[in-house]
Amino acid sequence: MAKILMAYFSRADENYFGGAMRYVKVGNTQIVCNTIKGLINADTFKIEMETPYSPVYMTCIEEAKADLRAKARPALVSLPDSIDEYDTIILAYPNYWGTMPMAVFTFLEAFDFSGKTILPLCTNEGSGMGGSERDIQRACPGATVNKGLSITGSRAAEAKGDLQRWLKTNGLL
Ligand SMILES: Cc1cc2nc3c(=O)[nH]c(=O)nc-3n(C[C@H](O)[C@H](O)[C@H](O)COP(=O)(O)O)c2cc1C
Repeated sequence: MAKILMAYFSRADENYFGGAMRYVKVGNTQIVCNTIKGLINADTFKIEMETPYSPVYMTCIEEAKADLRAKARPALVSLPDSIDEYDTIILAYPNYWGTMPMAVFTFLEAFDFSGKTILPLCTNEGSGMGGSERDIQRACPGATVNKGLSITGSRAAEAKGDLQRWLKTNGLL
């Protein structure tokens, strides 16, 4: 069986849940990734910024918007030594301003994904995948980018059925 890497970005702290702000210990994307870990064998890698965004939601959205506008590539705490052993990469992230957090671009641009299959998974509060699938394909020209899965972030804990179907569609279950 092909080796799978699940790389993800997720932010805990204050977030917006159906009309109210709330502090959480585990971000929505991380919840979804934890469910996936219970379903398949995959190595996991958390994409973490050296200087994380603010725990305060309103500050975070402004910082993330500024990084998007500046086409920033925030430095990461670490990177995997290599991704050579993986054929399939599950790439999970929140929708930030219609695409991925800029830290995910930093991650993608650090490696050659030629010949690999990337499965995008995006948690969001209504914008779906946004332009993220196109942006992944641009950052990884030699990769096959399969159709992504959009999960409503505030319902991340109830996503198991959708995740199972998506993993089956992609031959991982
Ligand atoms: C900086 C920022 C920008 C966001 N932009 C969008 C957006 O454009 N569209 C959308 O539907 N949700 C947006 N959201 C909501 C997140 O995508 C959603 O809450 C996601 O599940 C957060 O995942 P996490 O808890 O794993 O970080 C944004 C959230 C943040 C913090």
